[in-house]
Order: sequence, then structure tokens, then C-alpha cells
Amino acid sequence: MISQIPILVSSLLPLLSLLTSVSASCIHGTHLFPRQSETVPISTFGYSGAIGPLNWACLNETANGLCSLGQFQSPINIDASIELDNGASSTLSIPNVEAAEFQNLGTTVEVEVNGTLVDRGKEYALEQFHFHTPSEHRIFEDYQVMEAHFVFEAEDSTILVLAFLIRVSAQSELDPLLRSVFAALPAIRNPGSVTTTGPLSFGNLQNHFDTHSFYRYQGSLTTPPCSEGVEWLVVDGPLLVDVRTLEEVKSVVAFNSRYTQTPLGERNRLNCFGSPSCSI
Ligand SMILES: *[C@@H]1O[C@H](CO)[C@@H](O)[C@H](O)[C@H]1NC(C)=O
Ligand SMILES: *[C@@H]1O[C@H](CO)[C@@H](O)[C@H](O)[C@H]1NC(C)=O
Ligand SMILES: [Zn+2]
Repeated sequence: MISQIPILVSSLLPLLSLLTSVSASCIHGTHLFPRQSETVPISTFGYSGAIGPLNWACLNETANGLCSLGQFQSPINIDASIELDNGASSTLSIPNVEAAEFQNLGTTVEVEVNGTLVDRGKEYALEQFHFHTPSEHRIFEDYQVMEAHFVFEAEDSTILVLAFLIRVSAQSELDPLLRSVFAALPAIRNPGSVTTTGPLSFGNLQNHFDTHSFYRYQGSLTTPPCSEGVEWLVVDGPLLVDVRTLEEVKSVVAFNSRYTQTPLGERNRLNCFGSPSCSI
């Protein structure tokens, strides 16, 4: 686990102080939101109305400003402008475990496991993985029914998120990791609850990573405070989940997908006053 007391640069201080009041699931477990062993934090943001994504900046204008002003925000619609990496310079390693903690944070469900990703010579440590439904990223406009985010952090505090889109399937070849994780879902139906999974095997996931390319871009956290400089690897080729499991996940998580953000580098659509986009 990454040290909980990194040396703080002053520019990060405003951001970090907010995080005592906001649980941001995409950064949970990283230096931006250290875990507390006794409690499972419940997120104070949400996906509808006053606490929904259109209003995240207004929940705390100082801390969440990038949610409406940022120009490199995630998720995006991935198109031909995004680099497709064949993965030759990235190595994923997540050891199998006999059990792992599985938490319901209110805005997502999240599993804690250790692992490493060496990406272009830089080593990142896995903090957790969690799920969104429907998928946050779209690939050439299309979406999938779920998306898994494996959140890593390097020693210099750079955050990398490895994303797998998840497709609903009537086939019997379902991803064994998803099957094992979601078998424990009924025990954490209530926000704030925690359980322990059975054995988790990451062999299939690693093989999927090794045999697929991924899209690479620099974006942001998809939850408040929407911090930028996040390295995204979005695997090109979905994992599979069956309909019953999808229904089960929806019944617990409901909807937790941020809307598609402005293309990278373009003026944020929530920052529309005086811009040509207001007249479109
Ligand atoms: C908003 O964030 C700032 C720092 O970023 C923090 O000092 C303040 O307490 C936060 N306000 C609320 C209402 O959480
Ligand atoms: C991850 O590794 C750290 C340090 O090696 C250890 O303290 C921690 O318990 C491990 N966490 C899990 C979930 O296995
Ligand atoms: Zn996420």
C-alpha cells in the first residue's frame, strides 16, 4: 500500500483538504484519499440532481473546479485521435488471492488487492478496482454495460487507471474474476457495508490484457475532484458478464457513469458562457 503520508507540495493542499469530506471512489486508496480501516466511507457526491455530475463543481467550487473548467476530463468518446498501444511495453501482475475485502462505497463497489503494472518503464502499485454501470468510456461512440477501473499509483503519486469495458453476453464463457467478485455482491447491498470475497484468480484478466491493445490518453478522475494528469489505459476488447450478474450489479449500484466529456484540449462544455458552444 502506498504511504499515507506523502510529502505534500503546497499546490496539492487545497485539493487534499476537501477530501476529508468527499469520498471519491476513483481515487479511494491512493494518496488523495487514504483508507480508514474502521469505516467504509460513503460518497457525498452522486449521479443525479444537485449532487450529480453537472453540479460536481458546485459541491465545492474550490476543490472541484476542474469538474466544470478542466479541458482534459474523463471519460471521453475514444476515436481515431487516441493512441492505440499494442501493450509491448506494459506488464501487468496481479497475484491470485484466497480472499479480498469488498466494499460498497455508495457510488461504487470496490475490491482491495495488491498488484503492479510496469508501464513504459514506470512502476505503479494497484490500490483497488471498482465498477461503473453503464461504461464511462465509449469507443467510437459505442458503450458497454459496465466498466472496471483498476486504480494504480506510482511512487511520485501519478495515478494510472487501467479500464476494461464489460459486455453483456449470453455465452457461458464468462470472465471468472467477475464471476467470483460478484458472487459476493449480495452481502454488500447496503452502502457502507463490507464483505470478503472467495478466492480471486487474475490469470484470465492478465491474459486478456496481454493479448489486447489498449487506448492511451491523459485525462482525469471521473469522480470529484476531477483531478487531471491521470494516465488512462482503456483496453480494446471487452470482458464478458452474463445478464443475471448485470441485473444484480444494477440492483446494487444502479447508475454511476459520468457523462462523456468534451474532447481532450477543448473548452469544457460546462464553461460555456461567452463561448461559441453556447449558441450550438
Ligand atoms: C471545499 O474545499 C476546500 C479546500 O479545497 C475546503 O477547505 C472546504 O472545507 C471545502 N468546503 C466544503 C463545504 O466541504
Ligand atoms: C498489500 O501489500 C501491503 C504491503 O506489502 C500489505 O500490507 C497489505 O496488507 C496488502 N493488501 C492486500 C489487500 O493484500
Ligand atoms: Zn472509476
